[in-house]
Amino acid sequence: MRLRNDQEIEIFAPATVANLGPGFDIMGMAIEGAGDRLLIQVRPGDSLSIRNESEVSLPSDIEKNVITPALRAMLQAWGGTLAIEIVILQKIRPGSGIGSSSASSAAAVVGLNELLGRPFGEKELITFAMEGERLVSGGTAHADNAGPAIAGGILLIRGYDPLDYIRIPVPARLCTAVIHPHITVNTLDSRAVMRREIPQRDAVTQWGNVGGLVAGLLTADMGLIGRSLKDVIAEPYRKHFIPGYDPLKAALARTEGVLGSNIAGSGPSVFALCDGPQAAAAAGAIMTRHFGHLGIEADLYVGPVAERGAYVIR
Ligand code: HSE
Repeated sequence: MRLRNDQEIEIFAPATVANLGPGFDIMGMAIEGAGDRLLIQVRPGDSLSIRNESEVSLPSDIEKNVITPALRAMLQAWGGTLAIEIVILQKIRPGSGIGSSSASSAAAVVGLNELLGRPFGEKELITFAMEGERLVSGGTAHADNAGPAIAGGILLIRGYDPLDYIRIPVPARLCTAVIHPHITVNTLDSRAVMRREIPQRDAVTQWGNVGGLVAGLLTADMGLIGRSLKDVIAEPYRKHFIPGYDPLKAALARTEGVLGSNIAGSGPSVFALCDGPQAAAAAGAIMTRHFGHLGIEADLYVGPVAERGAYVIR
């Protein structure tokens, strides 16, 4: 077993917006301003402890923590054992829709990889982090949060068997506004309300929009990005979890420079893609006012797409 000389690391992984409109389970982007911060310590042995020092309450049973299956998958691939202590210093609230689970598992696997001297590449790290998603999603290990939490930027997951993803270039003017209202939507519940079978007409609409969104991002065609930010698979079923979703979306659609909006991941967070920082600030103001009027506390994140995935702080 070879470990880095320093056997302690502090690591950050960003919040992420999965689905990005039409890309249910296959598109996601990393955002600035929110994420998870972990302290990881390792020594020879065979144990795992996770201590939560963040402001967010979490189950104390480590079997219910997404970090556990992610690290187990990684250690199994590594072929050794370690005594690992994790301290959660900062945490996105679970059930937020901005990739709370994947930020923890991404930080854990990227941090441990550093301590081990980087035996694994980016794609392997994403597959380990996906095991955390499996725990909270009822058995589906999707990569649309875990991928961008590790790689940064905007990812298209082309396939899962095996994992194949493409990093899509982000147009320079593209900005985001993401609001996280303080209500909880469980990923499992949010997946349960969706249809299991999709009529052909909806499938055609959806894959047209996924292709349009990717083409719009690649060619920096803001109009095309906006026209493609439509989802007939998840949004119609999940919007009921979000108070006043339709009027909020309509207000955003009327705002100059706002290309489109949709539900972030499984909700309740809502995101808008915008042409430039001013439009993103305007979208953020509308979102804040919306939840303020409803008496729901909310956190707002406005900025560019986070180009950097999980990184070492010290
Ligand atoms: N793609 C996932 C979903 C992201 O929409 O259910 C949330 O984990």
